[in-house]
Amino acid sequence: MKCVDDFRLKFNGKEYVPIIIGGMGVDISTPQLALEAARLGGIGHISDAMSLDTADRYFGTHFTRDKTRQYKDFIKIQDKTGIHFDLGAVEESTKLHVGNVMEKKRGDGLIFTNCMEKLTMNASRDTLRVRLKAALDAGIDGITLAAGLHPNSLRLIEDHPRFRDAKLGIIVSSLRALQIFLRRNAKLNRLPDYVVVEGPLAGGHLGFGMDWAKYDLKTIVAEIHQFLKTEELAIPLIAAGGIFTGSDAVSFLENGVAGVQVATRFTIAQESGLPDDVKQEYLKAGEDDIEVNQISPTGYPMRMLKNSPAIAKGLRPNCESYGYILENGKCEYLKSYYRELEQHPDGKNICIKDKTCLCTHMRNYNVWTCGHYTYRLKDTTRQLPDGTYRILGAEHIFRDYQFSKDQQILLPEE
Ligand SMILES: Cc1cc2nc3c(=O)[nH]c(=O)nc-3n(C[C@H](O)[C@H](O)[C@H](O)COP(=O)(O)O)c2cc1C
Repeated sequence: MKCVDDFRLKFNGKEYVPIIIGGMGVDISTPQLALEAARLGGIGHISDAMSLDTADRYFGTHFTRDKTRQYKDFIKIQDKTGIHFDLGAVEESTKLHVGNVMEKKRGDGLIFTNCMEKLTMNASRDTLRVRLKAALDAGIDGITLAAGLHPNSLRLIEDHPRFRDAKLGIIVSSLRALQIFLRRNAKLNRLPDYVVVEGPLAGGHLGFGMDWAKYDLKTIVAEIHQFLKTEELAIPLIAAGGIFTGSDAVSFLENGVAGVQVATRFTIAQESGLPDDVKQEYLKAGEDDIEVNQISPTGYPMRMLKNSPAIAKGLRPNCESYGYILENGKCEYLKSYYRELEQHPDGKNICIKDKTCLCTHMRNYNVWTCGHYTYRLKDTTRQLPDGTYRILGAEHIFRDYQFSKDQQILLPEE
């Protein structure tokens, strides 16, 4: 019987433990978590979501405060077309975040950044170009293009000196999405270095509709595998979504994937950015406490705990401070908020059920997004006499994935 450690993920002749910790915005996949994955010979992600805010927290900068001051006159206006991100601030904050983690990197693994195309930031092309270039300038090992089809993202950095040396990958949830990406980028003469195939059991936003339960990761992986074979394209495939044990991972690795991307098991790691009391909520959750809903203004369904504080709140939008999902001055949450404000002109007792202010609530860790198997997290650790659960180090979880066999999960010592 094999374990994950019997396999290696190869990039340009170098070998890695085939475990990738997926990006979890906003800063749930912290630098500390990514650094652990790299130290242990695998691959870790940081997230480039809300980089201004993340930089303020880590480095004491004032990007968000400055932006809020600059645009305070928009607070009572629904049309946010006039709010713009300062591209210099986007560049500087990205460089601070990426540069800091790359400086601290030890071990044989790699650190990638997860780049969400759906963070349109009221000027999607310009802000995306700056984010991608700044991450490359600051020495990131690779960029995973996530949440969106990214038809033009590679073109934005084709003139960057690191365009062919950095690892560039894409997340897809269907063969069709991959085909569109490949077709749109055919002229660049640069294939993605890896393709993450994310199935419907993942956390965060899903690349499926509300009929997600009709799909399964193994079938999608097999389809994409066959397509790549037929087209003679040697792109490593990474399977993601619902891979909960080392044995789950082995079953994919034995069927031709080059690695696995996992996240849910690490949400409760010491190094995860979630506050400790929220980690306990994840650990306590039962299967019925998890739902896939449509409250994200991005338009993608999202899986989360039903008791997430972000659900059915009536927060005044914070686009002046954040505004990461604005597109041509609009966001689906703004629409919902102003609809409700008409009913409650005093601004009190507003409760918005159909959408959430994703920026504010993600920033404050109030969207408890999670993978389908979150309800099994309690089986990965020990309960303490006070009823809470022991929080595990990322190394423990990583090693469990790497060495466990026979669907075993290694519990921490008593
Ligand atoms: C809390 C959480 C936040 C996530 N946030 C993001 C994100 O910001 N961008 C992204 O591409 N994927 C995100 N994901 C998806 C993961 O990177 C990963 O591909 C997936 O969850 C793997 O499945 P698993 O959680 O069942 O192991 C998130 C997942 C979780 C659990």
